[in-house]
Amino acid sequence: MSQLPGSCGYPIFGDKSVEFYRDPELFITTKISETSSKVFLTRLVNTPTIFVCSHQETTEILYEKSRDFDHGYREFLYNSYGDNLLFENGEAAKLLRNCLTPIFTNITQYESSIEEFFGKFFENFPPNGELVNVYEEFKSLMTKFCLKFFLGFSDTSSERSKSISELATLHWHGIISLPVSVKIPFAGQSGWSKAIEAKEKLLIHIRKMIAAEKNNSSSKLDASVSKNDAYVNPNKSNVIQQMLQAPFMNRDKNMEQHILLFISSLIPKAFSSIITSFILEMAAKERANLRESAALDSQLLSRILLEVQRLWPPFLGGRRIANKDTTIGGYKIPKGYAVIYVSYFAHRDKNVFKNPDEFNPDRWLNQGNTISANSIFTFGGGERVCIGHRLIQYILQRLTKTLLEKFTWEIDGDVNNTKKYKLLPVARPTELPCVRFHNKI
Ligand code: HEM
Repeated sequence: MSQLPGSCGYPIFGDKSVEFYRDPELFITTKISETSSKVFLTRLVNTPTIFVCSHQETTEILYEKSRDFDHGYREFLYNSYGDNLLFENGEAAKLLRNCLTPIFTNITQYESSIEEFFGKFFENFPPNGELVNVYEEFKSLMTKFCLKFFLGFSDTSSERSKSISELATLHWHGIISLPVSVKIPFAGQSGWSKAIEAKEKLLIHIRKMIAAEKNNSSSKLDASVSKNDAYVNPNKSNVIQQMLQAPFMNRDKNMEQHILLFISSLIPKAFSSIITSFILEMAAKERANLRESAALDSQLLSRILLEVQRLWPPFLGGRRIANKDTTIGGYKIPKGYAVIYVSYFAHRDKNVFKNPDEFNPDRWLNQGNTISANSIFTFGGGERVCIGHRLIQYILQRLTKTLLEKFTWEIDGDVNNTKKYKLLPVARPTELPCVRFHNKI
């Protein structure tokens, strides 16, 4: 067993959280070069922390050795989110996954409501042919989608949904980034208490919607929920109905806490990050033919989306805590040490991806290739893979296909700026790009 390269220094004085958060990419590349290793030890949030930036060792954490590690998010996010799957391990996590995974596995049951939602969006897009700040536009779209999909709002422009979106933003400002995070509150103490207040208000809305849905099943609407806001068709497949039928140990609490996670800003930001990266990668004039072909070929579009998710994963990676003495890549990992797998770097590991910085959808062509969709960690992997990944892949395909079919687009301003990304808390270009869309004739 080898000793870990790097050092975790003395408690408090040796802490590198500020350096890491200031510029994670620079921090990691500097450490890799100092230690000549893609697996190195440092100290973050005053915990000895091992960064894993190679593909092989990330696979080991997520697959073969996943049971040697617990999730490492509780100390950062529990106060903001309360009890949910993210903070559970072992048997408790398995039980929750058994309840939640089936709800998001068979996406065909939601096809018509997804179709209706995005169909409506494209009736008025782009707004008056103006420049579009794509990151903000798609974040706002997905915020509305999450309200409809997870909470059952039929009118996502009602006053009530606006107020919930505002609460979700306040809630976010008190949250520390996920999955890789350091404890740097965004808005100081007052931001934090406002966030906790927002969380309580969100939970009140969520409880009302669950109550209304319970009543809907027996064909009665909760009097406190206006008709505009509630599901109009109680027979339609919806997430709350599915959750009401899932075998949760503590149904009401489990439901409300998970819906809180699903309607928080995390999902809209992560989704918009991928769509923005897609639009930017495909904007170049020399990609015009690729755009045309992908509009007609869903396999090619899937490969393009894989390549976008490889190069620009919304989350830098994930955090774990060793629950026993173990090893990764032959290095000794003592119990209690934190481990951060860094998808952004593992996705650019040249041992797995030839010319890793190159955008090359053809690398995913199945020619006896050793790589598959499981070779990227944009949605984690193994037993704790994201439960929403199928849903997101479905929506990504739906949305990008329509963009390619209906529009051409160009970036307003310096194209080179679009390659500079801020990686935390959710990756996005440092300067949010504006894009001009043109209707295809
Ligand atoms: C673009 C959108 C999304 C991205 C990039 C994303 C990414 C991720 C990643 C990387 C993980 C694994 C973290 C780890 O290994 O520690 C994860 C877990 C999770 N995701 Fe997502 N996710 C997205 C959307 C969703 C949606 C729509 C849902 C709800 C249906 C969801 C629910 C969850 C849950 C509950 C977990 C925890 C799973 C567990 O711990 O067993 N995510 N997600």
